[in-house]
Amino acid sequence: MATITVSVPATSANLGPGFDSLGLAIGLYNTIEIAPTTGVLVVEITGEGAGTAPTDDTNLIVKAAYAVFKRVDLHPDGLYFKLTNAIPLASGLGSSAAALIGGMVAANMLLDEPLEPGEILALALQTEGHPDNLCPALLGGLVVSSYVDHCLTYCRLPVAPMKVIVALPAIEGHHTQAMRALLPGSVPLKDAAANIGRAILVTRALAEGDYDLLADAMQDRLHEPYRRPAIPGIDQAAGAALEAGATAVTLSGSGPSLIAFAPAQHEQIGDSMAQAFQAATGQKARVWVLPIDTQGTVIRRGSRHLALRHRENLYRATRIDCP
Ligand code: HSE
Repeated sequence: MATITVSVPATSANLGPGFDSLGLAIGLYNTIEIAPTTGVLVVEITGEGAGTAPTDDTNLIVKAAYAVFKRVDLHPDGLYFKLTNAIPLASGLGSSAAALIGGMVAANMLLDEPLEPGEILALALQTEGHPDNLCPALLGGLVVSSYVDHCLTYCRLPVAPMKVIVALPAIEGHHTQAMRALLPGSVPLKDAAANIGRAILVTRALAEGDYDLLADAMQDRLHEPYRRPAIPGIDQAAGAALEAGATAVTLSGSGPSLIAFAPAQHEQIGDSMAQAFQAATGQKARVWVLPIDTQGTVIRRGSRHLALRHRENLYRATRIDCP
């Protein structure tokens, strides 16, 4: 049986006011190669997580693949995984979502696709409840999602070709769970109302590539004010981005990465953010200038490209049960 290769993009959730609702796929990728073997599990990791991430069945990608096998009650004898990771762990760039989607899509393809993409999303949501990372990791581009009762409705939205600047400070042990614990149980009505309008404006600004509109729209009152104090140097780095020419800058997911939008000067903006983080914390920050990804999860069997089954309905809203 030919090796299956799956590539999954990084994702930036929230996008300012779109807390827990908006997510954008960006051009930094983890690649998973999976092949059946006889009776053993072999996991090789290069790039991010090499030497630190587990290489046994506690690895999140392996767990994700096993969740698919369990769901369809088909178990390959043994498995070989080759993981080539460019998405840093615990960075606010969707590494867990990439692991879950990648592991599940790879396993699903190995079994000749018993699950629909929506079923894969539902299974991934049972493990990690962040559809704002999972949906764009699978579909690519800009995706809005929302829970209604026990269902998730998600829809891809148009997005202009833009480059983003991502700056990741060197913070050990940053976890989304801890960052969620900083959020209040309720927020003032005026803050909620401000976010609704701005989130809609953000989708318009991203569709049009309107950097000036992003400047007004990408301001959040629901999560950033509570999370920023936990990330040393974040205000200085965000200020440096704006001063160097970015029109909008916001936390990526729950941080600690910042994502900035600018019509030009991307490298200079990245350098300014890194210098500001370093001046404030004494630690080096990592910086990327990345395109928006519009492909989402891409699959190959040997040298042949395989399409996910949802491709013909790219912009149609989809509703899935999430028990
Ligand atoms: N919307 C989630 C949060 C994303 O902000 O906690 C986590 O990546």
